[in-house]
Amino acid sequence: MAVSVFSLACLSASGAGTDAVACVPGTPLTAGDLNIFHSVSPPAAKIRELAWLVIAICGGIFVLVEGALVYAIVKFRARRADAEEPRQVFGSTPIEMAWTIIPLIVVFVLALTTVRTIGEVQRTEAPAGALEVEVIGHQWWWEYRVPGSTAGRTIVTANELVVPVGRPVWLRMSSADVIHSWWVPRLNGKTDLVPGHPSNTWFTAESAGVFLGQCAEYCGTQHANMLLRVRAVEAREFDAWRAQQEQPPVAAAEVSAGRARFLDLACANCHAIDGWCDGAFGPSLTHLMSRETLGAGVASMDAESLRAWIDDPQRLKPGCNMPSLKLSDAEVGEIVSFLVTLK
Ligand code: CUA
Repeated sequence: MAVSVFSLACLSASGAGTDAVACVPGTPLTAGDLNIFHSVSPPAAKIRELAWLVIAICGGIFVLVEGALVYAIVKFRARRADAEEPRQVFGSTPIEMAWTIIPLIVVFVLALTTVRTIGEVQRTEAPAGALEVEVIGHQWWWEYRVPGSTAGRTIVTANELVVPVGRPVWLRMSSADVIHSWWVPRLNGKTDLVPGHPSNTWFTAESAGVFLGQCAEYCGTQHANMLLRVRAVEAREFDAWRAQQEQPPVAAAEVSAGRARFLDLACANCHAIDGWCDGAFGPSLTHLMSRETLGAGVASMDAESLRAWIDDPQRLKPGCNMPSLKLSDAEVGEIVSFLVTLK
């Protein structure tokens, strides 16, 4: 069965009475995209191996216990010729010993292998040569701070993490408000982002592709629309992405009205655009159009979605912290025509 994260998000948005906003096209999402058994990263592979071991042991116990039950029911069922109840047995030392010792061994094996897997999955420090990225959870979006191509340079972006294939990625995590949890099942298990208590996780994407995830700790009304998107690309493509993200925004003359409108209105209080405004409450918009989705995954990144979003974010993502500024269609149009130049 095909399960589409974005379709679900779009369904809930349309349920709230939105205009039709295009859901992310060209991303065939199947159940496999969030499947822990389709791991593409060493820690996710360890989790997959543990999951199979647990399933095998529990499955074996299930078959043995149910088999014994069915055998007993068939073999010892009451028969017409039986004059009275069979002889009742009270207490059996060998059986008591067996059902005490066997579960102890099973629990011991499961506990030890789980502890070993936790040790393999969690790290106290960054793997050698890792790309060290800062992740900050916000209601309801993800902030990423990726090291730039030169020392001291940082690329600030949102919701979409671009990483090189084959290189370890070390995520240093914190939260700006409540507890969130970063979970991209094909890359690693869940890691909570706790206010005032830094945490970390890591992964190495072994193949190129888009890996999806979901905030995995209930964090308020739009928890379900706090989607994760990791795009793993070849090293050369990553360098190109980074170089492009380091470019200053271009002030195109034909959208100067929209730019002025954006900077005059409350937009600039919350959003940053390198060199023009430095609001820190919402996502940085410096290279907005280089991202594939809008609103942490509720819609595709295009002019149509931006128009609906700016007109009233509450229709697409009810409860989100961005208000409707009650702009006229012309004002929204001006701002959108400016934003779409932020490539
Ligand atoms: Cu953030 Cu749930």
